Amino acid sequence: MLKTIPLTADIQIPQLGFGTSQLKEAAHASILHALHTGYRHIDTADMYGTHGAVGAALRESGVPRNEVFITTKLWSHSVAADKVAPAVDRFLDELQMDYIDLLLIHWPSEEAQPEETLPAMQAVLDAGKARALGVSNYGIDLLERAIATSVPVVNNQIKHNLEERPDEVVAFCKANGITVTAYSPIKALGNAATQKVVQTLSEKHACSPQQLALAWLLAKGLIPIPRSTKPENIEANFRAQGIAFSAEDVAALDAAA
Ligand SMILES: NC(=O)c1ccc[n+]([C@@H]2O[C@H](COP(=O)([O-])OP(=O)(O)OC[C@H]3O[C@@H](n4cnc5c(N)ncnc54)[C@H](OP(=O)(O)O)[C@@H]3O)[C@@H](O)[C@H]2O)c1
Repeated sequence: MLKTIPLTADIQIPQLGFGTSQLKEAAHASILHALHTGYRHIDTADMYGTHGAVGAALRESGVPRNEVFITTKLWSHSVAADKVAPAVDRFLDELQMDYIDLLLIHWPSEEAQPEETLPAMQAVLDAGKARALGVSNYGIDLLERAIATSVPVVNNQIKHNLEERPDEVVAFCKANGITVTAYSPIKALGNAATQKVVQTLSEKHACSPQQLALAWLLAKGLIPIPRSTKPENIEANFRAQGIAFSAEDVAALDAAA
């Protein structure tokens, strides 16, 4: 049930991940339930304050570290060239881990100049503290600057759901070998016209609109990272991987925007 897609020649990322923002006091239990359900890709960030909960839940789950893919992100106070390595050391301390699978620049900012921050992230990669590097909320201009640094940027995490569809950025990423993670994948289910198509397809596949939104993103080759505090939703979202979505289903939802 766990599909992976290649990030690099050597690294696979489980295509469905579990988001950990805004989980608050439910973070530990929700992440633990996600791991018990079968999720093997957890998305965290310095800003979410969930490093500790991710590490503790993983240890409690008994799932070996090398079977779980951990993404985290540098916030704007940690992206200056001299701040990246100490921040990553702090993240590893909070996570109680030896390495991060995917380290991202969380948000474009004055402080986050790709030409400064990405080489500092490359040094973290070279030190074995991260396995892959990427960015988040990057449009085409910033992606072009990132690519020009020659630092291997293999992922762009952007908002992508039935309402917001940054198709041009996705096409640019695909053309440049950059995988795309879809955040807030189920937060918005689109306008009335979209929701009509969602309802028809949800009935066809006997699933919820949220599961349908995830199946659509998975069928498009994106990496959705839904978040939930409810065990039944955590499990339902995981089962979205089993929905047999046809090319016609994808086309119908693509056209419904
Ligand atoms: N890179 C960035 O800048 C960035 C920005 C935002 C988010 N993210 C990442 O993306 C993750 C997901 O995005 P998100 O948290 O904004 O939104 P989301 O996962 O699209 O939506 C979360 C909401 O959907 C509900 N939900 C989840 N599963 C459901 C289901 N099966 N049926 C009905 N409702 C369901 C949740 O409520 P319940 O808890 O009640 O289930 C919650 O209110 C974040 O946790 C974070 O890891 C990244």
